[in-house]
Amino acid sequence: MLLQPPLPPEYADRTDAELRERIRAARQKLGRRVVVLGHHYQQDDVIQFADFTGDSLKLSQLAAEQTQAEYIVFCGVHFMAESADILTSDRQQVILPDLTAGCSMADMAHIDQVEAVWPVLEKHSDLPITPITYVNSSADVKAFVGRHDGACCTSSNAKLVLEWALQGAAAADHSLGRAGGHKVLFLPDQHLGRNTAYALGWPLESMVVYNPNQPFGGVGPEALHAARFILWKGHCSVHQLFKVDQCDAIRARPEPYNIIVHPECTWEVCQRADYVGSTEYIIKTVREAPAGTYWAIGTELHLVNRLATTLPDKHVRSLAGMQCLCSTMYRIDLKHLCWALENLVAGRVVNRITVDDETKHWSRVALERMLALRPAQPVSAR
Ligand code: 13P
Ligand code: SF4
Repeated sequence: MLLQPPLPPEYADRTDAELRERIRAARQKLGRRVVVLGHHYQQDDVIQFADFTGDSLKLSQLAAEQTQAEYIVFCGVHFMAESADILTSDRQQVILPDLTAGCSMADMAHIDQVEAVWPVLEKHSDLPITPITYVNSSADVKAFVGRHDGACCTSSNAKLVLEWALQGAAAADHSLGRAGGHKVLFLPDQHLGRNTAYALGWPLESMVVYNPNQPFGGVGPEALHAARFILWKGHCSVHQLFKVDQCDAIRARPEPYNIIVHPECTWEVCQRADYVGSTEYIIKTVREAPAGTYWAIGTELHLVNRLATTLPDKHVRSLAGMQCLCSTMYRIDLKHLCWALENLVAGRVVNRITVDDETKHWSRVALERMLALRPAQPVSAR
């Protein structure tokens, strides 16, 4: 994790009302030189200052489109800011208001591990392997994937990207078959990989979970050889908090709840849900639903609470009875946003996120392969 220096007392001690006023003033001074992007999991206090909000895919596209802005202040987590730096021009600078806003899932696939595992996988495969990485990964891992003829994916377009990766596989091949096509190494989220492959019609037996800390991933060479999907042993600690019991409890209630979850949830939870998709998909589905409908949502709490407040004609609640919040997203707050913007006004760029040229080149290849595959679609709508 990167270290964030403590903020000067003029930020730490200020009230929220004061900070909001100062942020407004700084934004006004900076005008079009700055664009603020906000992921849906950000707190309301931060989201109110975002020029654009979105899921990971939409924010990557928006970052690439901001050709006029000199500074892109990314209210999200580290890998998102890296993606923005990869996709924007060299004269643009990307800023993450708090450097400790990382992603524990992205940290579960370190480039050294990926590079060590790759030759083992290639040796024990009868088919070529296409590596796919969820955008929730470091720029190094994205570059690895780009170099090895793979691509990135987000939760909005994972189906499309997996189909692309398996290219060459015949329809009759949708079992344990190995008659042509490619295998897929899916990094770093085993759940998104499993949920997506299953939604495409692949059985669970065609997938193995690869633990990079064990010989042969803890599955053995035969299982590796037979598998069509090698799922990296990574997960989101927030979405793993949603459980089958919670789905059953919602179903037992008298109100006719719809269950809608993010595909970072486990396969068992996704199977019990009515709808599965990215944050953008969740927002669109609930927003467009008829008034009076009931929604239990399996994703980060700030987004669920915002939907509950902004859609009072619907009954919106979290699927879990507990606080499922992303503690790293939460690190971006009014103080850090104010500090980053006021430094820009003073001509100082703080917390710039940069990716070196070689890594940038290959990770851009992986991201652009993904962005060329449109349209975005949910993992599954059952
Ligand atoms: P999306 O916004 O792409 O659905 O991803 C959710 C997430 O966990 C981001 O880290
Ligand atoms: Fe990472 Fe999960 Fe937080 Fe998303 S919600 S940033 S995947 S830890």
